[in-house]
Amino acid sequence: MNLKEQVLLILQSSKDRYISGEEIAGQLFVSRNAVWKAVKSLRSDGFNIDAVTNRGYILSGGDGGFTVCRISSLLNKSAADCDIHFSEKIDSTNTALRKMAENGAPEKTVYIANEQTNGRGRHGRTFFSHADSGIYMSILLRPHFSAENAAYITTTAAVATVRAIKKVTGLNPAIKWVNDIFLDGKKVCGILTEGVTDFESGELSYAVTGLGINVTLPDGSFPEQLSDIAASLYSDYAVKNDIRCAIAAEILNSFFDIYINCELKDIIAEYKSYSCILGKMIKIVAPNSEYSGVAVDIDENARLLVKTENGKLVTLSSAEVSIRH
Ligand code: BTN
Repeated sequence: MNLKEQVLLILQSSKDRYISGEEIAGQLFVSRNAVWKAVKSLRSDGFNIDAVTNRGYILSGGDGGFTVCRISSLLNKSAADCDIHFSEKIDSTNTALRKMAENGAPEKTVYIANEQTNGRGRHGRTFFSHADSGIYMSILLRPHFSAENAAYITTTAAVATVRAIKKVTGLNPAIKWVNDIFLDGKKVCGILTEGVTDFESGELSYAVTGLGINVTLPDGSFPEQLSDIAASLYSDYAVKNDIRCAIAAEILNSFFDIYINCELKDIIAEYKSYSCILGKMIKIVAPNSEYSGVAVDIDENARLLVKTENGKLVTLSSAEVSIRH
């Protein structure tokens, strides 16, 4: 944690009382001038910090910005050592992080942006990534398993995202297999996991999992072609930086908590409990076929079991599914 983050933590923990620059400096073993510089930098990140002569500093509400500093201050033990990079505007956080991975960036490097100009979705689609309204975040992993087990990463990301949204907003989103998060029948989050395999070992040399979450309505609303299928967690336009920071941090907390401590089979029950397709009649669009059936189960490897209309049991590792009404 850098000095700025430490000063923020102290200000947050003495929320209702002024704390002097001298006291902060004493706690952190730095000069008052260093504290003042950290306060100035926090202010430029969007934090409202009042300074009163002879009393000191106090955090005075305000929206605080969508910043690394604020997100880092909310990380727990499993995610505290994430190295978070941030851009106001970038083509794609997945693309940026893949470049960093190629240049040797370690596991737990994270890239977050306030806006993407070329947000990428699955199957070559674009992911609408307007400024100030969403969370666009990519996480770099160097797992010791093969690409066949990559479902573990996406499943973990989906469970972590649902947990975070539930905890921060009180809403109850659902997972549409394999990796879309829905609220009231519309998509609020998509996940794209990309990996590169080392041919010698057969293991992934790295994987980047990217999450795009629509938190509030984008300025000017969703483009026409998305308005029937996409939604945001909140149906207003007000920028909610506090919520964006808290959700981003909670995703990292849960994601690494699972990644460090659990296997796929340990989280499948939770994944299934969030599913919005189990027991429902769905349409399946696979590369060479399209058919309907009932989604009967999700197995220990996160594969979907479908009973087709002609009574056949099919096991799917990937496909596009939609609920048939
Ligand atoms: C999908 O719904 O098809 C997946 C969308 C994934 C979007 C996220 S936003 C952060 C990261 N960067 C990207 O370019 N894509 C992912």
